[in-house]
Amino acid sequence: MDRTRDGSRQQPSQRVGDRLLPLPLGPGLFRLPFVGDAPRFLFDKPGFLAACQRRFGDTVRLDIGGPTLLLADPADVRHVLVSGADAYGKSPQIVGSAARKALGDNLFTANGDHHLSLRRDTARVFRPRLVAARLPLIERRCEEFVDGALARGEIDSRSHVAPWGARCVVETLLGADIGGLDRCWPGALERRRRDVETMVARQSLPLVRRLATRKPIDAELAALVDDALVKTEDTDAPLRGLALSMSAVPPADIRDQVVSLLLAAYETTVMMLVWTLESLARHPEWQSPCEERSVADRVLSESLRLAPPTWLVVRIARESDALPSGVLVPAGCKIYLSPYVSHRRGAAFAQPERFDPDRFLPDRPVDPFSYFPFGAGARSCLGEGLARGIGAAFLIAMTRRAVLAPIGARTPRAIGGLTLHPARPVRITVLPKPR
Ligand code: HEM
Repeated sequence: MDRTRDGSRQQPSQRVGDRLLPLPLGPGLFRLPFVGDAPRFLFDKPGFLAACQRRFGDTVRLDIGGPTLLLADPADVRHVLVSGADAYGKSPQIVGSAARKALGDNLFTANGDHHLSLRRDTARVFRPRLVAARLPLIERRCEEFVDGALARGEIDSRSHVAPWGARCVVETLLGADIGGLDRCWPGALERRRRDVETMVARQSLPLVRRLATRKPIDAELAALVDDALVKTEDTDAPLRGLALSMSAVPPADIRDQVVSLLLAAYETTVMMLVWTLESLARHPEWQSPCEERSVADRVLSESLRLAPPTWLVVRIARESDALPSGVLVPAGCKIYLSPYVSHRRGAAFAQPERFDPDRFLPDRPVDPFSYFPFGAGARSCLGEGLARGIGAAFLIAMTRRAVLAPIGARTPRAIGGLTLHPARPVRITVLPKPR
């Protein structure tokens, strides 16, 4: 770091044409030759990025498989996701041709006009009115989950929340009358989740990326989807509607699209529920208030602040660009926008590690680019209403009838995979609520 004559720290700068622009700081001193910051990033991804932001500020220069900028200044986040989004594309790890070959053609891997058209069709079936029509079904399933939890006296995130979440998502999105909901779907969706995680991880290694082969949707999951689409008569089911609107598209592409949406809903929603249960168990003072919808919404928002399931959003600069903060982004630079990091900035949230749902009281507006668990702009989440609907119904059902207590002295460490997941299963004691 540069220092002035009186010894104080000075922001280094770079000359671009006739302008002097600030050069972001980063952990350069401790960087290893050839591998850059990758080893420390890989050791604890969210923790490393959060520590870098605390130490170097809202623009951090990193070397993680090439030049990388971590941005947390809300004006920069807004620029990359919304106002200047044309200059930034999704990572080739997701939308590159090798990635599309490996992951299939779907909304998440599509680019440009193809993305626009898929997104328009998908947004149509996720309209708030259509999502609201699914709520009675979701509420019934939440009550059943609480029945089971009370009978067992315990919740385990892997054995109970994940399979329940798979069933709830499939039933809500694909049809309440389809077969194999308890027996086949949870295992099939979990297997596909693991396959996709492996394929995306492979995409991050340039040499392996070229050799990447597609791991097709396995025969059981393919048969489950095809069977559901043919047999369901549940006319409100969003993905049935989407598949019908795609009648001119080859069946394999419809399947890719349906499975990718089921997965996007499944793993994020389950992680939201798991982290929220963990927080509620450790903060019993919020359990009874949660029976009320407005409090349940605030508890969910606070849980999504501290443990955003989509903890990292990656973009690549298509061309060189100047950010509102004044930093120059070179073409090809990787951009990390991390809800996990942004949600912990002291400038936006006082005592950021404290669990305090009242941060989200209606008279305390929160900057949408300091808090963005569902992204923003042209690739923002289409399932936010549904995820929040499931979350609120789940919390209300649970806290009306049960008291939660943590098992284990500490909250498990958060691992930054495709979603933010706990290093070990979360386990919670469930007791009937005294009347
Ligand atoms: C707590 C639960 C959820 C969280 C935290 C979450 C988060 C996100 C985020 C951050 C993005 C933006 C990614 C980017 O900009 O690259 C996104 C996109 C998306 N999510 Fe969600 N999501 C959740 C649940 C759901 C559900 C239930 C669905 C329903 C199917 C869904 C469908 C989508 C879709 C379709 C996109 C947009 C893809 C695109 O246009 O590129 N998500 N989600």
